[in-house]
Amino acid sequence: MNLDELKPILAEIQADAARDFAAVGTQDELRAARSRYVGKSGTLGKLMGTIKDYPPAERGQVGQLLNQANQALQTLLDEHMRRIEQADLSADASQAAAFDPTLPGTRAPLGGVHPVTAVQWEIETIFERLGFTVEAGPEMERDYYNFEALNIPAMHPARDMQDTFWCTNGLLLRTHTSPVQVRAMEKFGAPLRCIVPGRCFRYETIDASHENTFHQCEGLMIDRNVSIANLIAVMKLLLREVFQREVKVRLRPGYFPFVEPGFELDMSCLICGGKGCATCKKSGWVEILPCGMVHPNVLRFGGIDPHEFTGFAFGLGLTRLAMMKYGVRDIRVMNQGDLRSLAPPWRLEGPTVAEWS
Ligand code: DAH
Repeated sequence: MNLDELKPILAEIQADAARDFAAVGTQDELRAARSRYVGKSGTLGKLMGTIKDYPPAERGQVGQLLNQANQALQTLLDEHMRRIEQADLSADASQAAAFDPTLPGTRAPLGGVHPVTAVQWEIETIFERLGFTVEAGPEMERDYYNFEALNIPAMHPARDMQDTFWCTNGLLLRTHTSPVQVRAMEKFGAPLRCIVPGRCFRYETIDASHENTFHQCEGLMIDRNVSIANLIAVMKLLLREVFQREVKVRLRPGYFPFVEPGFELDMSCLICGGKGCATCKKSGWVEILPCGMVHPNVLRFGGIDPHEFTGFAFGLGLTRLAMMKYGVRDIRVMNQGDLRSLAPPWRLEGPTVAEWS
């Protein structure tokens, strides 16, 4: 190739490079395009290697031409590198504008305690302040503690009040928390103050206000000279503390073989405000606190002398209390494991199973 042929070739290489460099959008692409022209295998690079093939008199001029071309490519490359860097920078900047660190983040759903647990903890705190201990007993119980020692012998009609799940091993699923009364008397003797929150079971047909699995909280106070006045005072304090206001209550005679006298303590229904709804069976009142003075026979079963000691007992419907407190209309909500029932209380305003499904 002579000098005259070289000139247009160099011009063509520069034109190609200018077009190629202008077409790339990233630094990597630009580096790849560069290697097609400069460097050992690039078109211009290869021409550099041909200088020695020219006659010595022309070599200086060829070298000059090639250097000029190389220089021109380098300038082009620098220009395009700056163009790409500039574009990258402004892309970063526009992304930075889209990210607003003052916006609130996505909230992860928080877990919460079950409404029954929440109420149970509250009651434990209230009674611990009154000097009561918190006790527990087995959910699978002996006939003796669930019935016999509570003054409900075999064949007693009161057994029909509590439809019972009998187990094949001769035990039963406790129908109430009362069996722990005699267990506590055996364990601690008198005087005695305890509460027993726990799960109970009954062979019930399930509907909006009946469950086969529910929670109660038993209470027992035995001492010298414990009277009905003490019972009423403690029950009122309990409801006032739980609902944080004076709650209207009424006391009716009630029959339970393990207390004498026995009472039904009702509170005015907080769901309908006493007007009558499904929860209170249209009566405006909810049975919440059956209670009474511990029957002498029960004290005897517990090894306590009824001539020296008297006591009161109550069996608070914990599940029902939680429903009242958090406005849950349908008892089935409490057991179905719907995570919404574990939401904080303000989410619980009056949902029913139907509303949730
Ligand atoms: N155990 C009774 C029930 O589940 C409730 C009860 C009534 C408990 C009177 C008591 C009581 O301690 O004194 O139906």
